[in-house]
Amino acid sequence: MIHIAIDGPAGSGKSTIAKKVANKLNIKYLDSGALYRIIGYFFKEKKNTLDENTIKETLDKLSISLKDDFYIVNGEKIDKQIRTANSGNYASTVAKIPEVREKVNLILRNISEKMSTVIDGRDIGTVVLPNAEYKFFLTASAEERAKRRFNELIEKGEDVNYNLILKEIKERDFNDTTRNIAPLKCAKDAIEIDTTSKNIDDVLKEILNYIDGDF
Ligand code: C5P
Repeated sequence: MIHIAIDGPAGSGKSTIAKKVANKLNIKYLDSGALYRIIGYFFKEKKNTLDENTIKETLDKLSISLKDDFYIVNGEKIDKQIRTANSGNYASTVAKIPEVREKVNLILRNISEKMSTVIDGRDIGTVVLPNAEYKFFLTASAEERAKRRFNELIEKGEDVNYNLILKEIKERDFNDTTRNIAPLKCAKDAIEIDTTSKNIDDVLKEILNYIDGDF
């Protein structure tokens, strides 16, 4: 088995790259951010609260499992609903709760015990799979990441404002890097790749070059 951690801030390209790496190596891709988004979405949209105590008390009732490439939440397939900017902000809020992080980590570790995985997130190389064979940390300037997100949303036909996206990216960076528990940071043994002036194929090649010889 092989485990690959790909961490980095919002918009660094880590999920696009992680999916491609998993596809090339024919192993499972796990999106850890989706789990935080699911928990944030569930409590905010279905229970109308992000109150820490309520979440801690009822977290056990939330059943999350993986079926093919989708997470099933209390029997319901959840995917598109969690891809909104609001869900990203809810995710960032619930991600500060230790019990939420334990639940997410357990799901990721249980799957990784059974099979090879590529997981993208903020703390995969530092906390979730500290013994992963490969760890990568992707970065890019906030402006470049905002530009990527802006273009992505414009392509989807959404009416968006670049400055607002940049502001949200900076806020999320601040939240993710300054929180006490599992803050976003590069693991000591991770390979750091600045993707600001690189395209997806360049980054993919760079990562596969590190892995190829061993695989
Ligand atoms: O990667 P994505 O944008 O989907 O993540 C949403 C939010 O979930 C992040 O801003 C972060 O607060 C949280 N997260 C985390 N740890 C992870 C993955 C995501 O705290 N491993």
